[in-house]
Amino acid sequence: MPSFQATMATSYQLRRGQIETYFDRTAADAWKKLTSDAPLGRIRATVRAGRDEMRRTLLSWLPQDMTGLRLLDAGCGTGVLTVEAARRGAHVVAIDLSPTLVQHARENLPSDLGSGRVEFLSGDMLADNLGVFDHVVAMDSLIHYRATDSVAALARIARRTSRSILFTFAPLTPPLAVMITVGRLFPRGDRSPAIEPVGEKRLAGLLARDSALIDWRQGQTKRIESGFYKSQAVELLRI
Ligand SMILES: C[S@@+](CC[C@H](N)C(=O)[O-])C[C@H]1O[C@@H](n2cnc3c(N)ncnc32)[C@H](O)[C@@H]1O
Repeated sequence: MPSFQATMATSYQLRRGQIETYFDRTAADAWKKLTSDAPLGRIRATVRAGRDEMRRTLLSWLPQDMTGLRLLDAGCGTGVLTVEAARRGAHVVAIDLSPTLVQHARENLPSDLGSGRVEFLSGDMLADNLGVFDHVVAMDSLIHYRATDSVAALARIARRTSRSILFTFAPLTPPLAVMITVGRLFPRGDRSPAIEPVGEKRLAGLLARDSALIDWRQGQTKRIESGFYKSQAVELLRI
């Protein structure tokens, strides 16, 4: 019988494959548009507004001057947060499963980054060869994994991080729980990997119980809701 850890690794890998296909092929153009200034329909505009607010929130939890600091943008997408962190002087390692999005980010990297540096990579944010970091940000890149897999991923990231890990999760609210139950009765019309919402208390319990996170405590948290965008930011701080 496979061990619990092996089962988790398998569910992480399975989901990772779906996410890669989705962001690299199905949704790459939509994602480039969402993260640009191009005009959007009303609903997507609310999502963009929510995501802009989320990015501002996460950036406000990072030092204003990041000269000489190393930051991992874990699941960087088109690299919008990467650019902002590099403008503060950080050395950013920006990694994403989607080579298409990474290539787009690379081609659109502005030249006015001062002392900031960016290294773009395509691959898994948990890859062993990424080095060590002062800060890690995973904005909306763990929301498609089971909560247990996300926490296991955070625990692996924690080993290589000295100051803070900022991540987001999809908060499970009672209306959403009903929608998910009803939704499971019907086949999904699109190919997008489902978002895996988790209750705030359950997530806090999983984080507290993980022995690899014993040296970490939860700092600030902020939920952002804008139209169809609902996501909650969490700051983990090394004690
Ligand atoms: C919702 S998008 C967010 C992108 C970016 N962080 C932002 O907020 O604009 C999620 C991204 O996470 C990436 N991702 C998911 N799992 C990943 C993993 N294990 N390693 C690297 N990237 C991952 C996806 O490919 C996708 O581009």
